[in-house]
Amino acid sequence: MDGKAGLHGLPIWETLSCLSDDRILSEAEQKEIIELRQKKPDLLIRIARLLLSLSGSGYTYQKFASCPWEDIVDLIHDQAARNRLLQQDDPKEQAVSAYLNREHNQLPCTLMTARKRVLEARRLCKPEDPVLVLGDDDMVGVELAKAGFTDVTSVEIDDYICQQLKERSKAEGLSLKVHRHDIRKPPLKELIRPYHLIFLDPMYSLEGIEMFLRSALEFSGNRPGTYFFVSVHLQSLLRDGFSQLPQLIASLGLSWGEVYKGFNAYPVPDRVGWWIAFFIRRFMKTQLMSSENFTLKFFLSDAMILKNEKSA
Ligand SMILES: C[S@@+](CC[C@H](N)C(=O)[O-])C[C@H]1O[C@@H](n2cnc3c(N)ncnc32)[C@H](O)[C@@H]1O
Repeated sequence: MDGKAGLHGLPIWETLSCLSDDRILSEAEQKEIIELRQKKPDLLIRIARLLLSLSGSGYTYQKFASCPWEDIVDLIHDQAARNRLLQQDDPKEQAVSAYLNREHNQLPCTLMTARKRVLEARRLCKPEDPVLVLGDDDMVGVELAKAGFTDVTSVEIDDYICQQLKERSKAEGLSLKVHRHDIRKPPLKELIRPYHLIFLDPMYSLEGIEMFLRSALEFSGNRPGTYFFVSVHLQSLLRDGFSQLPQLIASLGLSWGEVYKGFNAYPVPDRVGWWIAFFIRRFMKTQLMSSENFTLKFFLSDAMILKNEKSA
């Protein structure tokens, strides 16, 4: 299971871990990770998780305070193993933009990722079909318009991203439509249209996914047949969230298409990468992490295609 070959339908929790994929990990590496999963975490980690659980911060990462240790081991090794593949493939990948506003959970993807999404758009609809991008720090609207899609709309809460989208579109002579809007509010009437495909990159929580999908349904006027390309890191939902995902999707009247593991690559800012590498070297001294040039340059998330199955 990787960014190229998709699975049809939701994978089971165990297959999200790189441990289930012997194409990306050697037998010895798998064995070492299994041993680490079974070990009691270091005292410092236990204290840090306790403090995090008491912090009452309400941040999405707080869920890592109480989840099973083995899930954290899996998640980090999955990222590390997939980074190793990416860095061999193309170490010079760049983010579509240097701007990043964490207040809106932004982390721009690589240009190659944005272009891979365009290929999916080509597979799912015709160039003249209306396409919507809900939240567009990844500049997918620009790449779609550049690739010949003639009816593309980007909706975004952040003024600066809207300005960037408009400037790039103008500079390239594209017909991209850009609207500043907070999707927690209902869409303007003129933006409710029969979109064939909607791109979404929600926060990695069930609440985030539900908020973005409900808004996408409103924008499409609940049109039967609309496709949704949802970027999501499934392991970040943890077992609990992941087990509730099928129910959420079904309750919205949507069906599953392909699921692509590790489809999206987001360059990790240097400062964050340094802290992650520090944490990993201190607490996860597995072979995979110990190689001289080991770094986590990219955060990799999955993608799933959903379809509105409501009958006309
Ligand atoms: C939600 S962020 C990506 C989140 C990412 N997957 C994560 O959890 O780190 C994707 C885009 O949605 C935009 N966005 C966030 N909240 C929004 C809202 N309420 N309305 C419209 N766009 C929003 C962001 O500015 C960004 O460009």
